[in-house]
Amino acid sequence: MRIGNSKEYFLMHKDIRVCLMDIDDEGNIGRVRRNEAEIEHFPLGGRMNDMKFHEWWRDRAIPKTRHGAKTALQKLGYSSTNSALVNNLALSLSDCYWIMPRESELEWKDVNLFTNDFVDTFGEITLNSDYIIDLRNKTRFNCATSQGELQKKWCIDESGRRYMIKGNYGESYQQSLNEMFASELHKMQGFDNYTKYSLVKLQTDMGSDGLGCMSYDFCGEKIECISAWELLQTIKLKQNESYYYPLKEVCLSLGMKEDEYTSFMDYQIMTDYLISNTDRHMNNISIIRNPDTLELLGFAPIYDSGNSMFYNVSYKDLSRVKISDIKTHSFVEKESRLLQYVRNRDCVDLEKADIDFKVFEKDILERRVRIPLLKELFDKKKMSLLAFQSGKDIWKNNKH
Ligand SMILES: Nc1ncnc2c1ncn2[C@@H]1O[C@H](COP(=O)(O)OP(=O)(O)OP(=O)(O)O)[C@@H](O)[C@H]1O
Ligand SMILES: [Mg+2]
Repeated sequence: MRIGNSKEYFLMHKDIRVCLMDIDDEGNIGRVRRNEAEIEHFPLGGRMNDMKFHEWWRDRAIPKTRHGAKTALQKLGYSSTNSALVNNLALSLSDCYWIMPRESELEWKDVNLFTNDFVDTFGEITLNSDYIIDLRNKTRFNCATSQGELQKKWCIDESGRRYMIKGNYGESYQQSLNEMFASELHKMQGFDNYTKYSLVKLQTDMGSDGLGCMSYDFCGEKIECISAWELLQTIKLKQNESYYYPLKEVCLSLGMKEDEYTSFMDYQIMTDYLISNTDRHMNNISIIRNPDTLELLGFAPIYDSGNSMFYNVSYKDLSRVKISDIKTHSFVEKESRLLQYVRNRDCVDLEKADIDFKVFEKDILERRVRIPLLKELFDKKKMSLLAFQSGKDIWKNNKH
């Protein structure tokens, strides 16, 4: 086993040095010395203690389990996703943190990915390696229970705007198509705080075309995002407690108005219910803030609605789905119970929810049998929401 050499780095928030830390060759951090004078700029998730800060750092690396990550690491010669992180100065397109070798004279303007050109080699390889082709040749659905694992790649368009491309897990394109479907719903509702997704063709090594989706970066030099998960690391949580109220407490302590929290959550919970999004976990909700003034700007536009519309249910099982039994990864496990948090049941207009199912025709598999079944389930969800709007607490009734 190789004994790693440690090197000293500053953790930077733009040009502010928030701490000095040792990082070894594997990308693991050792001793951390915080700059108390700039503690306000220290990552919220790592404030409580060093253990939390180590977790914050680990979470920053691309998950080892991301599809194609192993192949990409080998091809690029990194020993781990953490060492890849160090090699890229831990820069991101979602916030303004980065690391600077102690002796270096680099500045934010020289390194940041918002204004400096970059090529996301890691993303390139995870999206375009043989691995994706292997996935497409599979005949069975894989149940996508793991998170943060879709292949992704950041790109720059001709006008300099940054955008993210996401692939799909498994051999269907439904996760990407679902992002389009969700975007359409928010557009029809006249709700504007959502991330707009578009379809993109992906090229595989074999030269065949596949589908993915893209969204423009909602962050920039003046906007950075912090996940709900990170916010929750700033307080003590009771075991098995729903995160809804703790998250509210943190958001309010950062200056959010109670009404803003409630109306955003009401809308998100109701629309997620309608499209059966079962993955609104705490990394799929974020707030945005100004990285210079640290002023809270509100919720990040709704993103990542791909794990919805029964994407992981095979058409054979679709007719057996009981909508009252749907399980979700969110504040509570039972989907219908999420509705108990909703204060304003009229925040979604069901007259404006006739989304075109044509988008699902772009899928390659099962589409002829699948689409009518999806539509049926969607209509059931709509009926159920209508009952909810007329006063029925549907989570108390198992007959739906
Ligand atoms: N358009 C965007 N602008 C800025 N940041 C983004 C954008 N899209 C995604 N992100 C960031 O990248 C992370 C991963 O993206 P996303 O949630 O869409 O991927 P995912 O693999 O489907 O995630 P998971 O399966 O873990 O929920 C998000 O949690 C968010 O922090
Ligand atoms: Mg996500």
